[in-house]
Amino acid sequence: MGQKVTKAVFPVAGMGTRFLPATKSVPKEIMTLVDRPLIQYAIDEARAAGITEFIFVTSRGKGALEDYFDHAPQLEQELKNKNKTKLLEVLESTNMDSGAIAYIRQHKALGLGHAVWCARRLIGDEPFAVILPDDVIAAEKPCLQQMIEAYAETGGNMVAAMEVAPERTSSYGVLDIADDMGEMVKVRGMVEKPKAEDAPSNLAVIGRYILSPSVLQNLNNIKSGSGGEIQLTDAIARDIELSNNVYGYRFKGQRFDCGSKSGFLQATVAFGLAREELRDDLKGYLEDIMQAGI
Ligand code: G1P
Repeated sequence: MGQKVTKAVFPVAGMGTRFLPATKSVPKEIMTLVDRPLIQYAIDEARAAGITEFIFVTSRGKGALEDYFDHAPQLEQELKNKNKTKLLEVLESTNMDSGAIAYIRQHKALGLGHAVWCARRLIGDEPFAVILPDDVIAAEKPCLQQMIEAYAETGGNMVAAMEVAPERTSSYGVLDIADDMGEMVKVRGMVEKPKAEDAPSNLAVIGRYILSPSVLQNLNNIKSGSGGEIQLTDAIARDIELSNNVYGYRFKGQRFDCGSKSGFLQATVAFGLAREELRDDLKGYLEDIMQAGI
């Protein structure tokens, strides 16, 4: 039912103030989990899901992000000369095809909905994915791929969803569930960052979306909402009124909120432990400090 999805939007215009002073000169998306920038995890996930066109919505001061995706011929040559094949492979695995990436500037920080709307001409009239690189998801099958498979059955709009503690709903878009089918829920409403007492459930939206182009049209008329910003959540909720075709997808995997320091540190530990060459050292250290009661 769902059309093929080949385009993904990566909203990366945020100033990353929570990570100051680091983000004074380094875009948040370039900050590294172990040895890969956050944005590389998002790109790898998109590629695994069959995405071939990558649209970055950027802002002033994000030049390092564009440079990161450039090929590095000199460095590649040097690694070749020194026979450093493994490193060369690592480097080459980050190379993007010419013309596969587009950058659009969001000139004002008017919210996530506005950022996605800025990409409307590049998206055109087809379904598209949105990936928020702050949400890093460790999963056997990458989250967006899980969603693309589910979307093949449903079409419409699909958002990644996860149960959160009721007192945390004010940090998320929250789903009002019409029909709970287990892995998938049919949604009858969505609220951006409700207080616990106003939340329709504790099923929260996580930063992976497959959206129909009608959401972009809805964004033409969405007024600023929660936090005074133009919210993507509101534009998706509008699609429920128009065509009643929004689903939440409970993905399999562990999500890290790399938009927060604590989440970033947790992800660093988890991804470090997942790396064979680091596991023993890191685990030994963690055991030691736990025992020492630090
Ligand atoms: C954004 C969305 C929110 C979603 C969240 C997931 O909020 O607006 O609906 O639940 O991402 O991380 P932000 O975290 O950018 O404030």
